[in-house]
Amino acid sequence: MVCLGNICRSPLAEGILKSKLPDTYIVESAGTINMHEGKSPDYRSIQTGKNNNVDISKQKSRHFSAKDFEEFDRIYCMDRNNLKDVLSLANDLQQRKKVSLLLDDEEVPDPYWGEQKDFDHVFQMLDSACEKIAADLQTQISPN
Ligand code: 4NP
Repeated sequence: MVCLGNICRSPLAEGILKSKLPDTYIVESAGTINMHEGKSPDYRSIQTGKNNNVDISKQKSRHFSAKDFEEFDRIYCMDRNNLKDVLSLANDLQQRKKVSLLLDDEEVPDPYWGEQKDFDHVFQMLDSACEKIAADLQTQISPN
């Protein structure tokens, strides 16, 4: 799960997707800038998660790196800028194919400069996207 700072959107996306999948899946998040490296998620994201029984308080922000293309099968970006920045680090078609917007044709808006209602809206968007991803992944494992 990738956003700009890895303190607002992608930590919530990580926590939500983790909560919907068995522990055998490795779900992480990262940011395309390193400005918040090592920091906890934004307190508003922590609170929004808490309001919805998703604990993201122990996460630490990290910078997305080219190595993530080797470690992960799927890379979901919150908005088109994140998508462009991630794709610029891909080496080949196989790596580019791992990358997509989290929502099919819509961006997850950055709530950083917003209010609590913007975080709530982001949570709902992330929750329905992650529900689909989790269902999709588990269908692939047991098609019947
Ligand atoms: P995020 O939100 O990309 O959802 O983590 C932001 C966090 C920090 C900044 C911008 C967006 N910032 O400019 O520091």
